[in-house]
Amino acid sequence: MKSISKHFDAARHVSGLSQFLDDMSVPEGTLHAAVFYAKMAHGHIKRLNTAPALAHTGVHAVLTAQDIRGENQIGGIIPDEPLLAESDVHFWGQPIAVVVAETAALAREAAHLIECDIEPLPVITDPRQAAREGKLIMPARTVETGNVDAVWAECDIVIEDKAESGGQEHLYLETQGAFAIPTEGGGVRIVSSTQGPTAVQRAAAKVLGIPMHLIEVDVLRLGGGFGGKEDQATPWAIMAAMAALRLNRAVKLVLPRQEDMRMTGKRHPYSSDFKIGLTKDGKILALEATFYQDAGAAADLSPAVLDRTLFHCTNSYFIPNVRATGISCRTNVPPNTAFRGFGGPQGMFLVEAAIYRAAEIMGIEPHVIQRTNLLRDGDTFPYGQVTERCQAERTWNEAEQTFELASSQKRVAEFNAINTLHKKGIAVMPICFGISFTNTMMNQASALVHIYSDGSVSISTGAVEMGQGVNTKIAQTAMSIFGLPEHCVKVQTTNTSRAANTSPTAASAGADLNGKATEIACTALRERLLSLARTELACSEGDSLTFSEEKVWKNGAETNLSWNALVQTAFFQRIKLSEQAQYATPRIHFDKATMKGHPFAYHVYGTAIIEVTVDCLRGTYEVENVQVVHDFGQSFNRTVDLGQAEGGIMQGIGWMTMEEVLYAENGRLLTDALSTYKIPDINAAPKQIDVRFLDNSENPMGIMNSKAVGEPPFMYGIGAYFALMNALKASRPDKRFLLKAPMSPERVLTALYEPIAVAVA
Ligand code: MTE
Ligand code: HPA
Ligand code: MOS
Repeated sequence: MKSISKHFDAARHVSGLSQFLDDMSVPEGTLHAAVFYAKMAHGHIKRLNTAPALAHTGVHAVLTAQDIRGENQIGGIIPDEPLLAESDVHFWGQPIAVVVAETAALAREAAHLIECDIEPLPVITDPRQAAREGKLIMPARTVETGNVDAVWAECDIVIEDKAESGGQEHLYLETQGAFAIPTEGGGVRIVSSTQGPTAVQRAAAKVLGIPMHLIEVDVLRLGGGFGGKEDQATPWAIMAAMAALRLNRAVKLVLPRQEDMRMTGKRHPYSSDFKIGLTKDGKILALEATFYQDAGAAADLSPAVLDRTLFHCTNSYFIPNVRATGISCRTNVPPNTAFRGFGGPQGMFLVEAAIYRAAEIMGIEPHVIQRTNLLRDGDTFPYGQVTERCQAERTWNEAEQTFELASSQKRVAEFNAINTLHKKGIAVMPICFGISFTNTMMNQASALVHIYSDGSVSISTGAVEMGQGVNTKIAQTAMSIFGLPEHCVKVQTTNTSRAANTSPTAASAGADLNGKATEIACTALRERLLSLARTELACSEGDSLTFSEEKVWKNGAETNLSWNALVQTAFFQRIKLSEQAQYATPRIHFDKATMKGHPFAYHVYGTAIIEVTVDCLRGTYEVENVQVVHDFGQSFNRTVDLGQAEGGIMQGIGWMTMEEVLYAENGRLLTDALSTYKIPDINAAPKQIDVRFLDNSENPMGIMNSKAVGEPPFMYGIGAYFALMNALKASRPDKRFLLKAPMSPERVLTALYEPIAVAVA
């Protein structure tokens, strides 16, 4: 099989032929919906009058909580979130009513006419305050290993401090949206921009009060999800479905950008305390951390996100004594949700902050501590899993050598010695990220493969294509098993009638889980067809048959029997040409009571070196380069994988350096437009990103021996934060800077020039 290195959607994407939800043709007479939402972050609804909206031109209905036939509940993990507010509102932007009209513009106009009196209640936007007031999503959770309390006395250095990281807006190019078409017998077909078609189907069944088999959810592709559509694509889909069933008309609901930003949750901000203990030669003996997670007004996925924070708060280091406690705090902001890394980045930021501070106080370079403590095979993670095929040291060593770290450091030091207005900083960022949903049950997927009588192949799985290339990888899997070219294989839309009980495409596991299911189904079909071919070609026992180039090959030589002819014969002989298969990740288990187990199929490793230059007069900076040795396993599509790495790195740098989600004290989102929320553009991109593929990394747990790639590279972005810290330090060695991300140009400037808060002793 020739190795393939492209994204199968690329040509369609760049020529504008790819369809997204808003491009699809909808039935004539489709109505359009707009959402009326709370303009107050916490309060009691005293009066709601929808009559003026209903009287507006072209309006067909205004739906409120009263119109819900089933349960007004969309909370996936904890039932604490209504679809539409009933008596109280808990965040600015919380949906209260749905207006359905002839056009989206009329629906929005009418929504402005709704009268709603809300009696204000106190607003909390700070997770620590929520914790002080006992406003928690659930009881605190702790991951613990060794004996932290006993070991502080053995440490030469013990440091306590605080680390904070901010939220992040997903900013998928395609905003949230769905359309729903009523079907015979009281059912509904929903087309949704969701990462989790089953999540939409399940929640819709509950709210609409109808069985799941009356609901079909279909997804072609998303214009980005990044976790923001794992749980939070659901409400809009249900609203459209509710309206469609009520009016017996197709209804479409697409959020305008600003409403999307106001109504949906983001990456969880964290405010955390840490205590780290080391020997004088930099060996970390103990880490204690308390994470205050800003969950927002409802649980959403926060408990699962918090677990991953606790799992990843030792990053790629072996720390023998750890106590990590997570407190999920209920505040009055939109419920925060999954975002690339799923709590992992926040955990890793903490340990990197602790190492940075320790190095600063010990008067050594952070990379000395980082290098000293890297994981090795056989080391046990605080959650009980033992490392296997650990690549932490290999990726570090290869990055150090390939990119000549020592000479870069020397060059940076020389630059800093002769420049005052510009300072450079360099940081090393190793990563270790566990692959599997932290909730073991979710690690399953299915595939349905048909071979049609003309030889063409159709594949349906639970995987959702959101730009990450999962459909390309699934198609490649089938192509390699059947020996067929690209045009013979089609990955169909993700549809709950063809793939049932699917997990969302998330946790970077989409290609592994759905690819493995596809592999099982295709392998069964191949065996069946090969055995027919043996008869057709009158093979004897020792003959070996394979498929390649749309032909059957015998003992390495091409035969006259083509794939198409063989499929035809199978069809005439009434041989089954369809296969359905399920894959469930083996070996994994986790005990929530003890917070121990083997939650991950495997880990992804890598090491990045990041260099920045700060303009100390203006506070602006440039990322000079990001140099990475990354463990892709045996990559079977280098273009797709490189795209994931580069995209993830950019998004991670954005989170750490410039993107700032700000709420006013009254809970209103201040950064609700692209003029106030800055994401990295081409000018902010690193001048150079050089990602190398680690050789000789086998991974039998991944699809085609590869490793999942969707999320891990995001965390290299953390290195940009510490590169900036190092540059600031070069400018003001007399100061100790707060460990608070993002390090925006504004923060850089104030950090350099504000009066010394903590002078270095
Ligand atoms: N890449 C693109 N282009 N668009 C996306 O929305 N989402 C990321 C990552 N890469 C995303 C992306 C996230 S959060 C995850 S979990 C994975 O893709 C999901 O896809 P996978 O499981 O197939 O890797
Ligand atoms: N990662 C991403 N999404 C998830 C997870 C996870 O571990 N668990 C539940 N949803
Ligand atoms: Mo990704 S945050 O797991 O959708």
